[in-house]
Amino acid sequence: MNNCKAIQISDKIFWVGAVDWSMRNFHGYETSRGTSYNAYLIVDDKITLIDTAKVTFAEELINRIASVVAPEKIDVVVSSHVEPDHSGALREVAKLAPNAEIITTNPNGLKGLTARYGQLNYRAVKSGDEISIGSRTLQFVPTPMLHWPDSMVTYCPEEKILFSNDAFGQHLATSVRFDDENDLATVLAEAKKYYANILMPFGKQAQAALKTLGGLELRMIATGHGVLWRKNISKILDCYRSWSAGDVDERAVVVFDSMWHSTEIIARTIAEAFAAKGIPAAFYDIKATPLADIVTDIFTSKYLAVGSPTINNQMMPTIAALLCYLKGLRPVNHKAFAFGSYGWGGQSIAQVEDELKAAGCEIILDKIRVANVPTAKQLDDITQKILAL
Ligand code: FEO
Repeated sequence: MNNCKAIQISDKIFWVGAVDWSMRNFHGYETSRGTSYNAYLIVDDKITLIDTAKVTFAEELINRIASVVAPEKIDVVVSSHVEPDHSGALREVAKLAPNAEIITTNPNGLKGLTARYGQLNYRAVKSGDEISIGSRTLQFVPTPMLHWPDSMVTYCPEEKILFSNDAFGQHLATSVRFDDENDLATVLAEAKKYYANILMPFGKQAQAALKTLGGLELRMIATGHGVLWRKNISKILDCYRSWSAGDVDERAVVVFDSMWHSTEIIARTIAEAFAAKGIPAAFYDIKATPLADIVTDIFTSKYLAVGSPTINNQMMPTIAALLCYLKGLRPVNHKAFAFGSYGWGGQSIAQVEDELKAAGCEIILDKIRVANVPTAKQLDDITQKILAL
């Protein structure tokens, strides 16, 4: 038993979620600053819980609720998203409040929750549906594929609060709940990393959702992860507009693996050539940087150079993992090329180029292939090719 307490975020509205300080890997996304599972309790004529938490935090969630009201009194649970970081404690809540109506989207939320938690007291809603919980109204806005088919946000017009679930969130563990109580640069960096790793494939859906939500008066965005937005709402909306439009900066990312430093030397030459051209270049030895951070930088960089030596007729498995991950994220507006050194076959470089094409990148330079160790002349040729881009 712990003595976790709710945190008031508005009149009779409380944060009752959990902070996961130790979380370091969220289905492959390295979360170096932990995360939180945000849930909200609205004390109105109908006691309403918006989302739950990962099941391992069920006790913490229930204790926070109990610090305000007996959990048995919950009348309505809004399940914005089936993914278990938000719905994981639903069964525990339903055990305490079996008559509570569980609101979810039709049909995907209903299907997903039933598959995971069995038959509970569900009520499926569609776009435009709303309920009164007393002095407040909850309006439901399904946001399919942001980022699951079932995803939904909820707007409370009387409070001007958007309960946004995954949208606008960050994997960021903090002891205080609002954007203005934290270092804004860190919050925005984590919001970008979150968008890049979770929402990048769904730019079109994000643009559609922003159009729908754009007309709402917003005093607060109560996210499903990380801090809530109250001071920098227009800033995070502007970021989402730019990110979902696929805007890229005049910037290069050079990422490589190397066996005996030859590919690394080529990578350095490429990065320095971009810099000489006036294009800032990030230089990532893939062994030293988490994939989630590398794809976050790729996300808003116009140029991408990926290098791998050849091992057993293949690219290095580290680079294969990056390209597999990147392909799934469906990046847009990137100009790319492949490079690498090799001992004999050198198959890896064409494989990298093929995967860059498959990820949707435009190939702007033919494969840079160097046998064994690059000579000064070869490095100079590479520099000239980059300068000529
Ligand atoms: Fe935070 Fe898609 O779950």
